[in-house]
Amino acid sequence: MIKLTDVEKTYMMGETEVRALRGLDLNIADGEFVAIVGPSGSGKSTLMHIIGALDVPDQGRVLMHDEDISVFSENELANLRGEKVGFVFQTFNLIHTLNSLENVTLPLTFQGVSRKERYERGKALLETVGLGDRLEHKPAELSGGEQQRVAIARALVNDPDLLLADEPTGNLDTDTGRGIMDLLKKLNEEGGMTVVIVTHNPNDAGYAGQTVHIVDGKIVEAKTATEGA
Ligand SMILES: Nc1ncnc2c1ncn2[C@@H]1O[C@H](COP(=O)(O)OP(=O)(O)O)[C@@H](O)[C@H]1O
Ligand SMILES: [Mg+2]
Repeated sequence: MIKLTDVEKTYMMGETEVRALRGLDLNIADGEFVAIVGPSGSGKSTLMHIIGALDVPDQGRVLMHDEDISVFSENELANLRGEKVGFVFQTFNLIHTLNSLENVTLPLTFQGVSRKERYERGKALLETVGLGDRLEHKPAELSGGEQQRVAIARALVNDPDLLLADEPTGNLDTDTGRGIMDLLKKLNEEGGMTVVIVTHNPNDAGYAGQTVHIVDGKIVEAKTATEGA
């Protein structure tokens, strides 16, 4: 589904160049579960932004379903994201004044979806993530793991092909984190969704079919888990 070829990304910090990605190649197949690991500052989030069409590289190509998105305009990228990509963040990024149902369905209000349909889709998604009994709770009334489940439900609202999660368990304790990983795995296996996560946790990487290790903006190792391992 996604093919990166010789991708480079450099940021300017004042006068200083920061080469976040330095000639990176990566293939992600449809339905794959990929974990990106590596030290802080190695380029993991930058890579996620490029995979998720939040940003384009300075050099190299990014094919998504055989379409070269490295030449897309901001508008084209935004449309692609809206149709195909769901994002989950370490800090959940929920809106504190809105309840679970409202957080999940907020993107639909901008698309003019009726109130009744929003309710039905939001409720079904919250049931999928195990929060059918928390529809009217606000983020402050939920545990960290529950907030992350709401964030995952929100990421699913447009039925994406690709779910990206940047350190989704980074702010959670081990058991709660495992519950989130089990949920991502379920969405991958039962929903056929392609899932890409960034993680520091070796236990999380164990869920992935392909583990990509990056250091200094380059892939130093890409391992495919063997069946049953
Ligand atoms: N918007 C930005 N402007 C300038 N430098 C950036 C920006 N985003 C990331 N960087 C730099 O690029 C490098 C890679 O960052 P990042 O992809 O966030 O790494 P990671 O997610 O692995 O911690 C770091 O040195 C970081 O400081
Ligand atoms: Mg990061």
